[in-house]
Amino acid sequence: KFTPRIFSGIQPSGGLTLGNYLGALKRFVEKQDEGIETIYCLVDLHAITVWQDPERLRNQTREAAAGFIAAGIDPKRSILFNQSQVPGHAQLAWIFNCVARMGWMGRMTQWKDKTAGKDAEKASLGLFAYPSLMAADILLYHATHVPVGEDQKQHLELTRDIAIKFNHDYKVDFFPVTEPVIEGAATRVMSLRDGSKKMSKSDPSDASRINLTDDADTIAQKFRKARTDAEPLPETVAGLKDRPEARNLVNIYAALADTSAEKVVADFAGQGFGAFKPALADLAVAKLAPIADEMKRLMADPAEIDRILGDGAERANAIAEPILNRTYDIVGM
Ligand code: ADP
Ligand code: NA
Repeated sequence: KFTPRIFSGIQPSGGLTLGNYLGALKRFVEKQDEGIETIYCLVDLHAITVWQDPERLRNQTREAAAGFIAAGIDPKRSILFNQSQVPGHAQLAWIFNCVARMGWMGRMTQWKDKTAGKDAEKASLGLFAYPSLMAADILLYHATHVPVGEDQKQHLELTRDIAIKFNHDYKVDFFPVTEPVIEGAATRVMSLRDGSKKMSKSDPSDASRINLTDDADTIAQKFRKARTDAEPLPETVAGLKDRPEARNLVNIYAALADTSAEKVVADFAGQGFGAFKPALADLAVAKLAPIADEMKRLMADPAEIDRILGDGAERANAIAEPILNRTYDIVGM
């Protein structure tokens, strides 16, 4: 009943990281190249769930768009746009706020993590309701598949719950029950400073992440200083079991090299991190430097980026509008 259609997004709340690249962007490009209809969104409405400097948000949205294009998203074959330019996202999110239950939101681990040790009463209402907006982002296009990193798995389950409850409450079969697509060697890239935290653009420590715009020296230095244990690399991946930092670096290598962790471990078995880290840094620089260069070139012409995003928003809206209108009709509006 539903034609295969991919939707996914990234927040323009900071520069793109290696985690965003391996867990999301690189997958987005693969899906586009498989010839499936692909819609990619810079989710600026999500970004403002925590305060953003307006001028910085505007620039980061352009920079993220440049990152997508530099990584291989072709704005002619994929739809690339920012969320706030298609009004249906916020409109459908309101409907879903009335379908979803408070308890569902309260159980989201990301909500718990982001308010841990803080006064949750002082978090924005938007941060609490964020997963409902995310469901709207996806379902506004009747997207059937969403490529994401592992951290988004629970939000995808909630999206499915909202679709199922809407269909049930209104006795329709209108929204698809969307499948998450979590694949590859690095679905959860960890912080370089703390193997128990994911690498994130919102981590206050810049040393915890590789940014797509980092230069070669910075990348080499961050990997050199990455926390590891003193053991050499094991013979098999089973030997990485209780070594989260080592496993993380191996997974990053494997994802960048388009190979498996098994293969990387076999190639480096018995070598220490003194040898592995420079090899990893060289590989990362070889893969990321061309992206950074292309981003710089694109950023020199912000008007062209705005034009691309404007065109994407028009095409996105052409899909979204009839689905929103039909939703209003189902609800009795
Ligand atoms: P961030 O946490 O960097 O702000 P977003 O929330 O904007 O990232 O997520 C954008 C996409 O990048 C999502 O699909 C998310 O799953 C993926 N992603 C983010 N961080 C990582 C990571 N450390 N490893 C793998 N994928 C990630
Ligand atoms: Na996130």
